[in-house]
Amino acid sequence: MAGGSVKEVDVDSISRRRLSKTGLILISLSGGAAVTLSVICLPFVSPALRRFCLPYVPATATQIKNVMSALAGRSGRLIDLGSGDGRIVLTAAKAGFVADGVELNPWLVAYSKFQAFRLGFCNCARFYCQDLWKFNLKPYPNIVIFGVQEMMPQLEMKLEKELCNDVHVVACRFPFPTWTPDATLGAGMDTVWVYKNPLRINVNSVGHLAS
Ligand SMILES: C[S@@+](CC[C@H](N)C(=O)[O-])C[C@H]1O[C@@H](n2cnc3c(N)ncnc32)[C@H](O)[C@@H]1O
Repeated sequence: MAGGSVKEVDVDSISRRRLSKTGLILISLSGGAAVTLSVICLPFVSPALRRFCLPYVPATATQIKNVMSALAGRSGRLIDLGSGDGRIVLTAAKAGFVADGVELNPWLVAYSKFQAFRLGFCNCARFYCQDLWKFNLKPYPNIVIFGVQEMMPQLEMKLEKELCNDVHVVACRFPFPTWTPDATLGAGMDTVWVYKNPLRINVNSVGHLAS
């Protein structure tokens, strides 16, 4: 009898220990998932953070069509700032550009590289897993950005320091705050603004660069 009750106690404590282990694993998993989700969602909910880390929202087919129309007649190197899944870069490569994408999210970069390989564009579509704010834009005569409103003033300042001669900048959904666009294509969420040599326009018309 006494031996039997000892066995019962042992089984009971073992199963309790197992339960607490399972509980710990579940708590760790749900905690980890909550932290991951918060990190992913932060750029969406925090306007302050959106200036530095924009959320992933893929361009629509109409938006991409508008971007390509905005760049009609252009050629050479192109950069998409925050290239997401690579759809703009790959479309540009198909159109004959030597297109690069810079993207912070390594999964999106890996997917973009795979797509470039799958479509046979490895030589004319390249993807860099880097921070766009630290990326040198001087070599690019064609620049595309689909960002968020909060980042546009700071991006305008970065571009004013780094733009090369004869550059066309295409902004999707959100225009630059002080530059005057040469053309506006599309409507609503799919609107794109085209800036042809924006520094020349600014120096002549606004003159804020001198101040
Ligand atoms: C609005 S999405 C645009 C995606 C793509 N250009 C398109 O049109 O489909 C913005 C992208 O910028 C990326 N991103 C956010 N902050 C970044 C940063 N500091 N440097 C590089 N990429 C960034 C996001 O991960 C996201 O994929």
